[in-house]
Amino acid sequence: MPVRSGAMEIAADMDTARHAPEATAPPRSDVPVFSARGLNKVYGSDETQVHALRDVDLDIWRGEFVVLLGASGSGKSTLLNILGGLDVPSSGEVRFAEHRLTGADESELTTYRREHVGFVFQFYNLIPSLTVRENLGLVTDIAVDPMPIDEAIALVGLTPRRDHFPAQLSGGEQQRVAIARAIVKRPEVLLCDEPTGALDYTTGKLVLEVIARINAELGTTAVVITHNAAIAGMADRVLHLGDGRIQKVQVNAHKISPSELSW
Ligand SMILES: Nc1ncnc2c1ncn2[C@@H]1O[C@H](COP(=O)(O)OP(=O)(O)OP(=O)(O)O)[C@@H](O)[C@H]1O
Ligand SMILES: [Mg+2]
Repeated sequence: MPVRSGAMEIAADMDTARHAPEATAPPRSDVPVFSARGLNKVYGSDETQVHALRDVDLDIWRGEFVVLLGASGSGKSTLLNILGGLDVPSSGEVRFAEHRLTGADESELTTYRREHVGFVFQFYNLIPSLTVRENLGLVTDIAVDPMPIDEAIALVGLTPRRDHFPAQLSGGEQQRVAIARAIVKRPEVLLCDEPTGALDYTTGKLVLEVIARINAELGTTAVVITHNAAIAGMADRVLHLGDGRIQKVQVNAHKISPSELSW
């Protein structure tokens, strides 16, 4: 790897990506966690057709913290949902480690999501009639090798709130419960779609700190969608999406801790 200083921007030219992958991604293992080639996603047909992703090539490496940045409608959620097995591309191929996601049937995708992927969305989707511990219990009951519920709750700093109901928690605390629920099954990847979208500045930072900590301490590969360019500083790599394409890849030689970000 060449020594880098500061943020380096590289055009996501397909040839560059194919012939010199080390120029766009700091490899941390031989097999990428995610590998996508020639991804296209078209919604609808005829006049109502929307081309949400166009010829996307992408590798994401184990332990990386990747931010997806781009305007509304640029294809961020579509890409994340395809990586997470919630949606399928119209053409192209996606792999999770050695497993081909394209071509998998619905039950295989369900197993993939259940065993390997933690999702965090803008809205927390906690079960209101269950306590924090019970919300996590819904996951650990069916997970293959979960961590102890209290360990996941401690990781997000909510031990004193573990027997509270969602309505007794602030928005930021509820989002931290959602993160604990996503990671309690020890997923390889944590996929977050605007996790701070509904939160104020200070609370949003706390939530980002939790995601960064899980990435650093558990080695969980994290992909985080945001509209907020300031958040990009905490990533290893920032993929700038525009009009369904990866238009620019930014590699951060020095990651900034969420507490040092300001916007
Ligand atoms: N189920 C769907 N049916 C039809 N069009 C869709 C569907 N989902 C997304 N689209 C379209 O695909 C394009 C990309 O959508 P996507 O949700 O991926 O954007 P995004 O970058 O996540 O935007 P935002 O920042 O607003 O969440 C948009 O033009 C959107 O209208
Ligand atoms: Mg979106």
